[in-house]
Amino acid sequence: MKELKKRIREEGKVIGSEILKVDHFLNHQIDPVLMFKIGEKFADIFENKEVSKVITIESSGIAPALMTGLALKVPVIFARKKKPVTLDEGSLSTEIFSFTKQVSNTVYIEKGMLTADDHVLIIDDFLANGEASLGLTKIIEMAGAVVVGIGIVIEKSFQDGRKRLDHAGYPVFSLARIASLENGQVTFIER
Ligand code: G4P
Ligand code: NA
Ligand code: NA
Repeated sequence: MKELKKRIREEGKVIGSEILKVDHFLNHQIDPVLMFKIGEKFADIFENKEVSKVITIESSGIAPALMTGLALKVPVIFARKKKPVTLDEGSLSTEIFSFTKQVSNTVYIEKGMLTADDHVLIIDDFLANGEASLGLTKIIEMAGAVVVGIGIVIEKSFQDGRKRLDHAGYPVFSLARIASLENGQVTFIER
């Protein structure tokens, strides 16, 4: 997605050789106009998959997921990182290990939020090692629902996530694919 890559080039800050900071439109301040276009793009890409629900993990995945749900006119679920007191006894949960933060977190959704009839589209802001997306696929499959695709805003293709999701057989589409962040430079994989 041309406009997204332009924004990354102009506003992104590279930290070390592995982290891209995009706090002006995605991870802290959110640009709703850009997010709207991102949602329309994902809706276009996955339009023939009969998506019945979009799912993400709080917090940074919510903005692009919500806009995708708006474009597809389907509900959006965000898995929670803390177990809410209002959550039913029978919640679905899975462990997600963050390589970036070197901690393991449990994420939860309420049982009954997904049913065996659901065709679920996973949306996330970043794809690094794929732990978040793989965790969501587990929760979806625990509910007996089907993962119809994974939409990623920014993929760091030099990390293992993309390979792992491809290998697991899920259709993945990333709006920006970063080949390298070496020497403070963002290098994209051009299609
Ligand atoms: P993985 O799911 O692909 O394995 O990623 P990882 O555990 O390494 O990511 C942990 C957190 O760091 C995630 O956010 C992820 O979105 C974020 N992250 C990973 N790489 C980058 C990067 O290069 N830039 C930015 N800005 N974020 C990155 P989170 O902990 O779920 O937090 P939240 O922001 O969604 O609340
Ligand atoms: Na994040
Ligand atoms: Na995220």
